[in-house]
Amino acid sequence: MERNIVDTMTETPRMLVMISGGGTTLQNFIDRIDAGQLPVRIVGVISSRADAYGLVRAEKHGIPTTLVARKEYATWEKFNQALCEAVNAYEPDLIAMAGFMSLFRIGKRYERRILNVHPALIPAFCGKGLYGHHVHEAVIESGARITGATVHYVDEEYDHGPIILQKAVEVLDNDTPDTLAERVQAAEREIYPEAIRLHVAGRLKVEGRRVRILPL
Ligand code: GAR
Repeated sequence: MERNIVDTMTETPRMLVMISGGGTTLQNFIDRIDAGQLPVRIVGVISSRADAYGLVRAEKHGIPTTLVARKEYATWEKFNQALCEAVNAYEPDLIAMAGFMSLFRIGKRYERRILNVHPALIPAFCGKGLYGHHVHEAVIESGARITGATVHYVDEEYDHGPIILQKAVEVLDNDTPDTLAERVQAAEREIYPEAIRLHVAGRLKVEGRRVRILPL
């Protein structure tokens, strides 16, 4: 059942988090919420992998979890259908992808209400196959001097929707994928909560591919 407009306006926004791995991004949300720095409530965590440590983090904090394991579905379509049902069951106001490593399509229902973080400066080093460590390996291999983190709205393509915030990170001569990932993830931990704060405050206006940040 759809919640009515009055509920939507008076409640703390209901955020659903989608993960596939360690869940450091999820942990950052939990810590920020506990510190009073992120005005949302995490109503659930959906994982595409049974062994995702993020599930343990969620359970430790009493957050409901749902496992929709990619490998239990014969086709991507069936997997995606199960994901859509799991998402709808939580009635989220917004969805934060937090290291969710599978393609997910839910049509128009949550348009401009799904956010993702990518560990590079989109449109560089993104798209199919470029996720997690593969991104940092490709950045180092390319000789790029600058990389960073991007938070964007999700659309129908990988790492493609309108960009909300970015933060640049320098690539050092002696960087390994691990050392670079560490600094990029520190940037992610700053800009992801900030993008969510702006979103829930209604301060993001999407104009074509650009996102305008409205003044207070
Ligand atoms: C994060 O660095 C995130 O940017 C990346 O996965 C990591 C998740 O870590 N996401 C992508 O590459 C998506 N294209 P976590 O499981 O510890 O939160």
